[in-house]
Amino acid sequence: MAIRGITDADLKLILSENLTPSDSIKTPERLFGRERTLTTIDRAFSSPGRQIFIYGDRGVGKTSLALTTAFMHTGVENLPIYVMCGRTNNFGQTIQAIGNALIPVEQRLEKAASGGGFNFSLPGGFGGIGVSDGTQASSNITAPQSLNEALDIIRYVAAKRANTTIIIVDEMERIESQAEREKFAEFIRNIPELNADVRFIFCGIMHDVSELLQTHPSAGRILETIELKRLNYSDLWKILTVVAKKLNIEIQEEALIRIGQVSDGFPHYVHLIGECLFWGMFDDPDEVTRSNADHYKIGITGALQRTEAALQAAYEKATRKTRNTEDYEEALWALADSTSDKRQISDIYDQSYKWIMMKRTGRSMLSREQLNQRYLAMRKDSHARIVAGFGSGWFAFRENIMRGYVRLRAEAQGIDLGRHENTAGRP
Ligand SMILES: Nc1ncnc2c1ncn2[C@@H]1O[C@H](COP(=O)(O)OP(=O)(O)OP(=O)(O)O)[C@@H](O)[C@H]1O
Ligand SMILES: [Mg+2]
Repeated sequence: MAIRGITDADLKLILSENLTPSDSIKTPERLFGRERTLTTIDRAFSSPGRQIFIYGDRGVGKTSLALTTAFMHTGVENLPIYVMCGRTNNFGQTIQAIGNALIPVEQRLEKAASGGGFNFSLPGGFGGIGVSDGTQASSNITAPQSLNEALDIIRYVAAKRANTTIIIVDEMERIESQAEREKFAEFIRNIPELNADVRFIFCGIMHDVSELLQTHPSAGRILETIELKRLNYSDLWKILTVVAKKLNIEIQEEALIRIGQVSDGFPHYVHLIGECLFWGMFDDPDEVTRSNADHYKIGITGALQRTEAALQAAYEKATRKTRNTEDYEEALWALADSTSDKRQISDIYDQSYKWIMMKRTGRSMLSREQLNQRYLAMRKDSHARIVAGFGSGWFAFRENIMRGYVRLRAEAQGIDLGRHENTAGRP
């Protein structure tokens, strides 16, 4: 046993309770660095008619914030309603899903199997709500065909529940059609007309609220918009130090600093590295009370293997070519060396690329123009569009979460990116 007093079962339990690389967080004790945001939402909820819109990068923690807030404001007898938008969903189906949340899933599926449910066209009658038969317990709510019907479904849901109903509408970026987005905007503008005890939390990967509400600026007045930023290093560290404390061990300070830098403000990577690092300590034949460089390495390599497949696939597609594979990797590493959202080619070349190439053996350096060409190529589909270009030599990762994965890849090959950044402040 390599961690004193901790059995295999103990470690599994502690890790599963504290590290969730593939699941969202639902309780405030585990949601680090969001205290101020939780207060903002709490105050917004005390203002009549105000709804919440959470936006930010992919993987930054939007769903976790929405769920934690929702659970804090509802009791177990009145759990929040959670619906996800889909690429093929439209506004009507999303509202329908909210209505269907009232009906236990087994009843919905059994009904569908017996051919009774999933009536997507409105049968009419039923006060515009569109329940396909009269009894709530065994029916499906059909998709609304108009704004008024949508509002009616929400009124109906609220009326069926005691106290405040919180409704989370997640992944709104997946609604691609402008016409469907407009229906949402129109709906949001009319939420005050509901006169029902419901609060909405909308979430989406967006740069600002106008992407959702382009033609309806007045809908913006109803929303408290919350831009969720990446986590500070000190909050990322807490994800691990809380676990270490429970195991009565310590994590090397150098490892903590590097984990903060590598993960670049995205908690997913910290959870992943943490799981592998703690198991590495547990598997150590010697009893350990403090992590060492080997445990850190186990954390990094384990995290690399277990990172979300979509990120791995994008990296491979961007770099694996019949020729120049390493050129592309080095170019990506150079871009990932700084956390700045956009970087200019001269800065990337002088500040990062040259430094990386000095550490590489047997590799020849590209000229600045050649490096520029690599980034231009990586904007294309054939390179997974991993890079976005902004003209005049400015480049960025299309999705910031990619930077953490690129840093992990470089780290596993001995290139410690992001090291020069301030460790205490915002990454
Ligand atoms: N404040 C936090 N403290 C610690 N871990 C967090 C925090 N917020 C999120 N996480 C963790 O980070 C990961 C991503 O969180 P979440 O799924 O909430 O992000 P998201 O922004 O909704 O992602 P997506 O854009 O993919 O929907 C999860 O593993 C979650 O457990
Ligand atoms: Mg999410």
